[in-house]
Amino acid sequence: MQPEIHICCDNEAVAAAFADWFAEWAGGKGKVTVALSGGSTPKALFRILAEQYEDKIDWKKIRFFWGDERCVLPNDQESNYGMTQDLLLRHIDIPLANIHRIKGEDNPKQEAERYGELIREHVKMEDGYPVFDLIILGMGSDGHTASIFPHEKELLMAESICAVATHPETGQKRITLTGPVINRAQQVVFLVTGASKTDKLRQIIREEGDWLSYPAAHIRPLSGKLDWFLDEAAAAEL
Ligand code: 6PG
Repeated sequence: MQPEIHICCDNEAVAAAFADWFAEWAGGKGKVTVALSGGSTPKALFRILAEQYEDKIDWKKIRFFWGDERCVLPNDQESNYGMTQDLLLRHIDIPLANIHRIKGEDNPKQEAERYGELIREHVKMEDGYPVFDLIILGMGSDGHTASIFPHEKELLMAESICAVATHPETGQKRITLTGPVINRAQQVVFLVTGASKTDKLRQIIREEGDWLSYPAAHIRPLSGKLDWFLDEAAAAEL
């Protein structure tokens, strides 16, 4: 299935467009499992959801997970959970039991195993793999996604649900969903904005240059749908 590409003028417009898409998507479903991305791109989205969709979405139907987390304390400024809690979760009526953070403060290997088991417990399983209803991803300027970096592309084929990853520049340990789990989601959405992503995005979407060396290029849902929400800067060379 060909990915659907949505282009908006800037990061705020991407966030607004995807918030609207998300509300319609969730509104048409019962209970759903959603894995969130981290980094800076989703911040505008979380603010808009908190400010404008607090009472437009039945948050009790949604179970939140993370596609990846930095191995830091939850109150560390680097924490994807901490950022989401600050910008979204504390503003909406969602049961605490529906929020499944990755415990970045714990031993990475043990946490990757624990989180994988927790996902098995709460996410629909098919052929031995969890099938998330929605996985939201970002893309780094090096073409990484979740915390699958170009130097660790083996995580795209890992048999485990979660794995320990290492940031190529800082050496920071991360916990990430693996490629087979991401590619089994019913729906995957990339939110990619900014001129720093333009070059890799062109290669990936056009399947040219070194596109296969970028993990984001390998996100092709086996049976699910893939959408890209881009701003004009990131999409400038498409
Ligand atoms: C993370 C993310 C990561 C992110 C990309 C893009 O933990 O950092 O999950 O995959 O989506 O690095 O980050 P920006 O949105 O900050 O450009």
